[in-house]
Amino acid sequence: MRLLCQVSGFRHLSAALALLAAALSACPPGAGSYVTGKASSDGIGKVFMGREISKVMGHPGIGWLERTEREREEAPSKALEMLKLAPDTIVADIGVGSGYYAFRLAPKVPKGKVIGVDIQPEMLEFLSARSKELKLTNVEGRLGAVDGVGLPEGSIDAALMVDAYHEFSHPAEMLASIRKALRPKGRIYLLEFRAEDPEVPIRALHKMSVAQARKEFEACGFKFIESRPGLPWQHLLVFERP
Ligand SMILES: C[S@@+](CC[C@H](N)C(=O)[O-])C[C@H]1O[C@@H](n2cnc3c(N)ncnc32)[C@H](O)[C@@H]1O
Repeated sequence: MRLLCQVSGFRHLSAALALLAAALSACPPGAGSYVTGKASSDGIGKVFMGREISKVMGHPGIGWLERTEREREEAPSKALEMLKLAPDTIVADIGVGSGYYAFRLAPKVPKGKVIGVDIQPEMLEFLSARSKELKLTNVEGRLGAVDGVGLPEGSIDAALMVDAYHEFSHPAEMLASIRKALRPKGRIYLLEFRAEDPEVPIRALHKMSVAQARKEFEACGFKFIESRPGLPWQHLLVFERP
């Protein structure tokens, strides 16, 4: 009986500790995670863990996403090689835009697929038209919401976010939703312009430092694995769903 009480007491204690840990987490989805202030010219005036969130790049910017200089500035072929994905990986490209990365990634996962998630239907229309043009059968578009990817639980092996996370208006909710969609040990590959490097000619709110990214992703339950160096302007940061 005594042993039973001890065991059930322990269960209550662990449940209470888990609740406390969740309450103390800096990343509870909801308004509590954010501070609102005066918006800067590139920002929305909403601050998450000390970082002002940037405005969303509208679909008229597709031409900019497709610019030829990207090969020199971002070395996308090298970046995608550095992901080292198995051919059967199911990867969600979140904030897919025009699919600049998704279409380069698709041939690397011939037995898997790329699910391009975006909140702008115009981006997904472009993605679908380009996909038909290129005769690719393993790229599909999915309309997401500002606070969730809308993918089934445990349905993806990896999530890729290229120059997109810094403009998510609900990062805590998005990370919680990505966490659910990933299978256990599934990985996030985050490509963002290096905030530590003043030589990278990109506006401040469109860059992220390793320290800031770690602060946000770790608070939201991801484990930092590594930063893979070697890209001209970006970091490739790898996180894992424990
Ligand atoms: C700067 S573009 C980058 C597009 C693409 N990743 C690339 O590198 O070419 C950012 C994209 O993220 C999308 N986006 C912003 N918030 C989002 C959210 N919560 N969920 C999904 N996509 C989002 C925008 O609509 C936009 O298409």
